[in-house]
Amino acid sequence: MTAPTRTLNDGQEIPAIGFGTYPLKEDEAHAAITSALDTGYRLLDSAVNYGNEAEVGKAAGDWLKANGVDRSELTVQTKLPGRHHDYESAIASGMESMDRMGLGRIDVLLIHWPNPITDKYRDAWRGLVELQRRDVVRTIGVSNFTDEHLANIVDDSGVTPAINQVELHPYFVQERMRAVHAERGILTQSWSPLGKRQAPFDEPPVADAAAAHGVTPGQVILRWQVQLGNVPVPKSATPERQATNLDVFSFELTDAEMAAISGLHREDGRLFDGDPNTHEEM
Ligand SMILES: NC(=O)c1ccc[n+]([C@@H]2O[C@H](COP(=O)([O-])OP(=O)(O)OC[C@H]3O[C@@H](n4cnc5c(N)ncnc54)[C@H](OP(=O)(O)O)[C@@H]3O)[C@@H](O)[C@H]2O)c1
Repeated sequence: MTAPTRTLNDGQEIPAIGFGTYPLKEDEAHAAITSALDTGYRLLDSAVNYGNEAEVGKAAGDWLKANGVDRSELTVQTKLPGRHHDYESAIASGMESMDRMGLGRIDVLLIHWPNPITDKYRDAWRGLVELQRRDVVRTIGVSNFTDEHLANIVDDSGVTPAINQVELHPYFVQERMRAVHAERGILTQSWSPLGKRQAPFDEPPVADAAAAHGVTPGQVILRWQVQLGNVPVPKSATPERQATNLDVFSFELTDAEMAAISGLHREDGRLFDGDPNTHEEM
């Protein structure tokens, strides 16, 4: 089983669901990623700050070799940290990520956080544009950008990101950012797409839909993500959960079920103090 694909604004294809790799490291990362690829995941989400780019690249490379699968079947994504936002640092960082992953050109590189207090994200974005021009990276995008940050990089560079990966789960639905993305042709990726430790598995809109469709609450939430048009990147080190989390393309939630799940949104629904206007992550 593999996910269908979505087409990005740069013409590239990306799987409609991905696999999150934080905080997987070392042997656990290798085992979980191997199992995820065996299950059918074809999009892996890493970051310099997860400290696992080497493990992600090694597990992917080993799996491709062992299964005789072409490199082009996999989308490997990583993220530029805040401490590398200077233009030259961003370029050097992208090259280092490529070397660490050992898979040739990086498929997707995102700016991890805008760090607007440091205020160098425009320079970082110009660095990513240059990395794409040099063919170090195929697709470039951002993460945790607000509409203001998006407008600033597009105005500055003339280049629109293909992806913005934002916190998005039933307690934090990101209605405004999804509208901004639709207007600009940017794909919404959802981080902590289940809601991590606070996943609303027992909330009636989720539990009732699970019972109605004979699926798990996790499948309901991920199906809700897909039907909203998002690409979720759930993480699980558990093979059974990896399998059910990917299996969300054979049932459909009704409009009423979709609305009820979105109705769980709360203004204070973020998982931690991750407001992109104030959160600094270097
Ligand atoms: N861009 C950013 O700033 C940012 C921030 C945070 C995360 N991310 C990315 O988003 C990915 C996913 O986010 P996340 O790990 O925070 O949250 P998540 O995917 O919503 O939740 C992961 C947690 O839920 C458990 N789980 C997974 N599937 C389940 C299921 N079907 N039923 C019950 N429990 C289940 C996992 O446990 P087990 O592993 O034990 O199964 C794990 O503890 C990360 O790995 C990372 O790649 C990006």
